[in-house]
Amino acid sequence: FHEWLGDSWGVLFSHPADFTPVGTTELGLAARLQEEFAQRNVKVLALSVDGVESHKKWIEDINDTQYAQVNFPILADEDRKGAELYDMIHPNASSTMTVRSLFIIDPAKKIRLIITYPACTGRNFDEVLRGVDSLQLTDYHAVATPGNWKPGGDVVIVPSLQDEEEIKRRFPSGYIAVRPYLRMTQDPRKKT
Ligand code: BEZ
Repeated sequence: FHEWLGDSWGVLFSHPADFTPVGTTELGLAARLQEEFAQRNVKVLALSVDGVESHKKWIEDINDTQYAQVNFPILADEDRKGAELYDMIHPNASSTMTVRSLFIIDPAKKIRLIITYPACTGRNFDEVLRGVDSLQLTDYHAVATPGNWKPGGDVVIVPSLQDEEEIKRRFPSGYIAVRPYLRMTQDPRKKT
């Protein structure tokens, strides 16, 4: 898995089983967002405890019904090895099937974000992209992203950054200190 990821970021996500309605929409969505993932240097990998032949047949259905081309792998985790390593089976939900776990993994192979949804609730893949955008922005700039942030929106300066000279250098457009600990500034990638 780590070799396959190479220098890319990764989104690894599980669903309860093949040929399930919510999972069909989710994989279709992920497929339609392939270009968005590629632009962010993200490789996508789905997982369920069904086998390869089942995955192959299901992919045909997903492509047909979701107007998508699934062009990322689906791990056939029949022995549940991956599911157990990533704690994707929650015995209160099912002792055999995976729940909707999702991990964003960085190029150093660190898990950076985890979301877990129950079988009844399909995930919001725009939120997954937003998570990737936030992680990639905050890795390179001394900022964090506020609630409901969207790319291009204002960000907060991390509280640990107190040196005014460095703040001026990093954020030439300045900042607004709503409180000493809440300093808003524009996305540092924006041209002023
Ligand atoms: C689904 O993926 O559609 C699903 C799976 C289990 C229960 C309900 C929905």
